Amino acid sequence: MNTEIRIVGTGSYLPEKVLTNFDLEKIVDTSDKWIRERTGIKERRIAAEYQATSDLGTEAALRALKMAGISPAEIDLIVVSTITPDMFFPSTACFIQKNIGAKNAAAFDVMAACSGFLYGLATVEGLVRGGRYKKVLLVASETLSKITDWEDRGTCVLLADGAGACVVVPDKEKHLLSYNLGASGEFGHLLYMPAGGSRLPASVETVKNKKHCLKMKGNELFKIAVRVLAEAGMKAIQEAGIKPEDISLFIPHQANWRIMKACARRIGIPEDKVFITIHKYGNTSASTIPIALDEAVREGRIKEGDLILLDAFGGGLTWGACVIRW
Ligand code: UT7
Repeated sequence: MNTEIRIVGTGSYLPEKVLTNFDLEKIVDTSDKWIRERTGIKERRIAAEYQATSDLGTEAALRALKMAGISPAEIDLIVVSTITPDMFFPSTACFIQKNIGAKNAAAFDVMAACSGFLYGLATVEGLVRGGRYKKVLLVASETLSKITDWEDRGTCVLLADGAGACVVVPDKEKHLLSYNLGASGEFGHLLYMPAGGSRLPASVETVKNKKHCLKMKGNELFKIAVRVLAEAGMKAIQEAGIKPEDISLFIPHQANWRIMKACARRIGIPEDKVFITIHKYGNTSASTIPIALDEAVREGRIKEGDLILLDAFGGGLTWGACVIRW
């Protein structure tokens, strides 16, 4: 019986437009040196005006399907993680379903901010193991530039756009060795977008006061992020019945190089096993992990049998980690 799940294809898409730290120096009071030293970011990608989240996700999805050798018509479920949907509804998953022609697929979105890919993977795991879905497309796609306050140097130097995807199928062998998810709603105010929902519907006032932009208390988040990421990562390793030294590649959420480094040190993973994309892509929320995963696979950094640790933290607050035997 195929009661386990396996990732059989990965894909990613980054918009063409590159925004460097030097470009940002012209927009806000910041410097390339500050951004590099405090975050590890050198440049990031920004979606074109005409590109919505589903457009990025569609490209990533098609690349993952190509690697998997599976046609869109075979896909029976599409799950999309995003905090920057094309619109409230229809879901971004429905737009991607239409774009790729996956006419036999159910489609819905999950929202767990930067932990979205791991929440999505856990959701897919349950549905595939339940036996009902056999060829699933999991996409994370974000256009954070569209909810960025370009006058707020505390956030605009971090946020970026991009999409990652994977194809999940049932398998005999156990590949997802462990996972854990968590949330702490009382810290929601540290990272959020105040307006546009039922609490504060869109109005002239909300637009004027930039309440449709992402707000973040970066410093407070930083401290929680290191602790929570390390705890989730260690729990996933322990529950997988392995040791930190067994991990071949650690792919943490790419929010800040200093957070990733501190977290790897706490877990006991050497820096050369931490896969980094933040220098070139910045923080793309739910997309950072699947983008990095796809790059690592395509660069040959992940081989069959390798043990991979994925570890994320973000708005909600939410977090999650998993160990995969590739
Ligand atoms: O995606 C998941 C959730 N997000 C995170 O986990 C993000 C976590 N937080 C961070 O990555 C960091 O806290 C930041 C990168 C956002 C900020 O770095 P920091 O080292 O925590 O800086 P800070 O907020 O403590 O600010 C230090 C100084 C302040 O100036 P004063 O008060 O010391 O004079 C800031 O005003 O740096 C100033 N500053 C900047 N200076 C130049 C803040 N942003 C900038 C900037 N350029 N862009």
